[in-house]
Amino acid sequence: MAHHSDSSLLPSSVRTKPQLWEHLFVQLTHLLDGQRDWVTNLANTSSLIYHSLLSYPAFGNGPSSVNWCGFYINSSLFPTPKIRMDHSVAAASDDASSRLLLAPFCGKPACQYIDTAPGRGRGVCADSFTSRKTLVVPNVNAYPGHIACDGGTKSEIVCPLILRTQGREVTLGVFDLDCLAQGGFDDDDKAGLEKIAQLVVDACDW
Ligand code: SME
Repeated sequence: MAHHSDSSLLPSSVRTKPQLWEHLFVQLTHLLDGQRDWVTNLANTSSLIYHSLLSYPAFGNGPSSVNWCGFYINSSLFPTPKIRMDHSVAAASDDASSRLLLAPFCGKPACQYIDTAPGRGRGVCADSFTSRKTLVVPNVNAYPGHIACDGGTKSEIVCPLILRTQGREVTLGVFDLDCLAQGGFDDDDKAGLEKIAQLVVDACDW
């Protein structure tokens, strides 16, 4: 019997990064089929990508391992409920309109909010979010404003989640991967991750 967890097993036929990302695209298409909830889909996406990459030699367990894989979402679109348990109403936070909130991920605990406000926002996630571009950072220590959630991280790739609807583009959040080695991610990863990000956006009701 096939288990959901089997979807993160890599067949031996996957040898190159383009093959890896094509394989992940197919696996994720099946895994998300029939589910439109974004929390559920982001959770399974981060798990599938994280565990599959750990099975790929270039990203496997060891000094060049991928060490974080997950999402930050646009807090203004998914605000924290304002009604408290005692039914009092919390004051709305001005900051909620300009920050990213930690969402489903795999890896060690990470910073909960990332400021994206003009003039205040900093870091790879904030820059990818505001520029709506995928950022490949070979050496995070040389990146101005990089936010170090884990001191072991040496390189990073961040891809925006963009919903195109009725002639508008809405940036829903970002998909972030970290690696323990410098130069962990390249243009093949950028192309693969962008396709995955679009698949996830299209697979969910937002
Ligand atoms: N390094 C990111 C912060 C998020 S963690 O890597 C999980 C940044 O600079 O935005």
